[in-house]
Amino acid sequence: MALIINGREYAFEGDPRTTLLDFLRRDCDLTGTKKGCDHGQCGACTVLVNGQRINSCLTLAVMHDGESVTTIEGLGTIDDLHPLQAAFVKHDGYQCGYCTPGQICSAKAMLEEAANNWPSFVSENLSGETRLTPDEIRERMSGNLCRCGAYSNIVDAIVEVME
Ligand code: FES
Repeated sequence: MALIINGREYAFEGDPRTTLLDFLRRDCDLTGTKKGCDHGQCGACTVLVNGQRINSCLTLAVMHDGESVTTIEGLGTIDDLHPLQAAFVKHDGYQCGYCTPGQICSAKAMLEEAANNWPSFVSENLSGETRLTPDEIRERMSGNLCRCGAYSNIVDAIVEVME
């Protein structure tokens, strides 16, 4: 079996109990994805599977045969940052940076969800505007913790990308 990670095929032949997180970090050398709690509580391990955000510590690699996985390494390069990466840099959306890959993957999925489902995202406090308010961003990013407390800068970065 194999997974398509950042557009490249990676064969998986290991212990079937291997989490997707451990497969990425240990077997694929994709260490941008971080291990925080390893129990689905911090969001540091967030990656995209077929465009949906997922805590990679809570799922097994064998469950994703043939699926498309995107990690932080697949979003941009040092010379060509993804708009979310550039906005996080501009707004200091991090301090230690440990949660940042998960934050950015999560934000990417959230914005795509919103773009694909605007009617369900237009709530009273949006007054009909087709974008998320800072409060809605905080709610939808609540699965990604930042121990440094850079939350307001993270929200500022995401707001800029929406504009
Ligand atoms: Fe997966 Fe914390 S390491 S949620």
